Amino acid sequence: MDLILVATSSTSEHQTSMNVPKLNDSSLLKAKNYIDGKWVDGGAGTIEIDNPATSEDIITIANGNAADAITAVEAANTAFKSWSKTTAKDRSVLLRKWFNLMQEHANDLGAIMTAEQGKPLAEAVAEVQYGAGFIEYYAEECKRSMGNTIPTIAADRRLQTYKQAVGVVGCITPWNFPNAMIARKAGPALAAGCTIVIKPATETPLSALALCELADRAGIPPGVINVVVGTNSKDIGLVLTQHKAIAKFTFTGSTPVGKILMTQCATTVKKISLELGGNAPFIVFDDADLEAAVNDCIATKFRNCGQTCVCTNRIYVQSSVAKEFTAKLKLAIEQLQVGNGFAEDTIIGPLVSDSAVKEMEVLMNDAVKQGAEVLVGGNRHELGHTFFEPTLINNVSPAMKLANEEIFGPIAAVQEFETEEEVTTRANDTEYGLAAYFFTRDVGRVMRMSENLDYGIVCSNSGVFSTEVAPFGGWKQSGIGSEGGKEGIEEYYETKFHSMGGILT
Ligand code: SIN
Repeated sequence: MDLILVATSSTSEHQTSMNVPKLNDSSLLKAKNYIDGKWVDGGAGTIEIDNPATSEDIITIANGNAADAITAVEAANTAFKSWSKTTAKDRSVLLRKWFNLMQEHANDLGAIMTAEQGKPLAEAVAEVQYGAGFIEYYAEECKRSMGNTIPTIAADRRLQTYKQAVGVVGCITPWNFPNAMIARKAGPALAAGCTIVIKPATETPLSALALCELADRAGIPPGVINVVVGTNSKDIGLVLTQHKAIAKFTFTGSTPVGKILMTQCATTVKKISLELGGNAPFIVFDDADLEAAVNDCIATKFRNCGQTCVCTNRIYVQSSVAKEFTAKLKLAIEQLQVGNGFAEDTIIGPLVSDSAVKEMEVLMNDAVKQGAEVLVGGNRHELGHTFFEPTLINNVSPAMKLANEEIFGPIAAVQEFETEEEVTTRANDTEYGLAAYFFTRDVGRVMRMSENLDYGIVCSNSGVFSTEVAPFGGWKQSGIGSEGGKEGIEEYYETKFHSMGGILT
């Protein structure tokens, strides 16, 4: 049986109760804002954080407000003056310590994530490892960020460029990856010499606060990383997008919210990077390895209960193999075990909220009304709360809502196609351009499709790609900029051109 820890208020971090199974180091469970290296109350009282699988309260935490965000920005601004002057090597050593602590506490960080977000524990621990990878990668990468010496245009002049930290970074992160989406912004930001103020999603502040506790233990100085939690996302967002001391703003979340934040950033012309929504096609040609295609379709469609921006949204299968592929996919979906993320055999956890389940019902009703056939699932799961059945539908048409909107849930929707040209046009016919997947054994087609799909990330014969070593970024309305890889740290530098005269006098 799982050990349930129940504690009462005993620390200065405002812990009033906790309910996180399998948590060994309970001092990772924090309940206050982390500002300037201190745990501080929120200006708007307190809120409860719930477990989406059980609806039980996990803990009562501070509810931060705009004033807290301003205090955090000021702290980050002060810390920037010294942090940006440290050597890349010194920053690298501290980031490496932070990475080591994340590894050491990966199981606890996973347990906190499963409690607040719902994803199965193994998947949560894997996310922690994924997140830690960004800290490790940028601890290394910052030592290799170099400028240029440019051939001069005059005998008495010398031309060079160098990179400098952009400044204080404002950052808003989503609930679907409570750890990794912070790590892949904070890692490169801190490595480049920036300081950061983070507003994690209202639903999932605990992973963010646990990362602050580990940053503190690693010796990252006060003010370098700050987290303001709570329900006042709009007000805090206004501070992070409009405060003059913030030089760069970065956001992961939906396209509609990204557009609003982008407009807000325009008032002070901030450097921005945005990771927004997707509408990923998953294309299966008639020469594909169908077993592999089914396996990877499951991986990309049902990861995090379908709640990622890169989850497969539209499955296109060439008509000659559609029957076979769909039958195999049906069998695989029927095996997916739904349950509480702390149960050993759970593959599919809950959705984040009841309104997310209602959204699945809206999409299903619309699809069925327009002629979709339900092959598996289609309804709320008998577990109730926030659970929805892993679902497979076919006869999907482009006019249906779920063919145009991000599903963000466990519904696999199959459409048929005849030719490569046709499916390329249909796959590109969306305002989004984040990730696309296709399966074929024809090497010429692999090259053609990878070039012709208008997406920032294309995966041939694979549905799994996320890694800290490569750039992740969307085209079109899926975003601006990249995270991960050598591109990821460039977002946190400005390039300075130094034109040096008087050399010969
Ligand atoms: C996302 O859904 O925003 C991120 C997914 C990933 O990093 O793989």
